Amino acid sequence: MVERVDALMRSYVEELGDSTALTLFDRLPHGKRLRAKLVLKIARESKEALKLASIIELIHAASLLHDDVIDDAMSRRGVDSINAIYGNKSAIMLGDILYSKAFFELTTLSDEIAKTISNAVTMLSIGELLDVELSKEFNPDPRLYMDMIYKKTAVLIEASAKSAALLSSKDSEAFALYGKNLGIAFQIVDDILDITSDTKTLGKPALNDFKEGKSTLPYIYLYEWLDSSGKSQLLNLYKKALNEDERRWLLEKMRESAAIERAIQKAKALGNEAINAVDDPSLKSIISDMIDREF
Ligand code: FPP
Ligand code: MG
Repeated sequence: MVERVDALMRSYVEELGDSTALTLFDRLPHGKRLRAKLVLKIARESKEALKLASIIELIHAASLLHDDVIDDAMSRRGVDSINAIYGNKSAIMLGDILYSKAFFELTTLSDEIAKTISNAVTMLSIGELLDVELSKEFNPDPRLYMDMIYKKTAVLIEASAKSAALLSSKDSEAFALYGKNLGIAFQIVDDILDITSDTKTLGKPALNDFKEGKSTLPYIYLYEWLDSSGKSQLLNLYKKALNEDERRWLLEKMRESAAIERAIQKAKALGNEAINAVDDPSLKSIISDMIDREF
């Protein structure tokens, strides 16, 4: 099913008739295609659903190309990132090609779907800008973090679920709420895995977020729990390449404070809210695929 999405995405790029763009596109590692799976599960497999799923995956791929430039990320999904291989300029331009082609294809879907998806991409960009701003100094406020991840990650998942519901005449508001909660939970889980997984499993360096200035939910909960000397110690480690002692201190405090468990509970509660938003048991498995990962 998802192979048909991969093939359609490639044919959209092939249609552009540019061999450099196609070569770069072919070097992109295939992700989990979660957004495509969500669309096809909600709307069932039709020509329009495949098109919608491919458009959304092209937009998602474009956003990751730009994100890796912004984050100076040298790997993505276990392989060298496009910016690492071809440089920032080519990565940015491939991103632009993918999302503008996606927008061209979007104009062939209904007005309501086109508005839903294009509005989501604006919000996504605002979310990424917020992430950049919040990464300048340690952010202890969980509300700012939640707002940022809603925009950066959940908005496109919300728009995917809503558009798939619009395609198949289902309750679009209920599916939007499902996608929103699922998307927020998904990003919280991703941020937890940065702390609990090893580099090989992640396909990118582990414990990297804090070094990159990202105060994700477990760090915010840990900061809340620490006394004032612990708080200063945590702030000392912010944006730093950690040595073995510092790494051990951080992981030990994470364990003592149960900050990670608290973040997992938050993600699970959001997952349950997502399930409760729609009356469709088959959508439960997507939640567990996204949330019940190896912590
Ligand atoms: C990954 O975040 C980034 C996103 C989910 C969104 C990125 C959005 C943009 C760059 C806006 C531009 C949009 C287009 C369509 C060009 P992360 O860095 O937390 O996750 P990672 O660990 O996977 O890199
Ligand atoms: Mg990134």
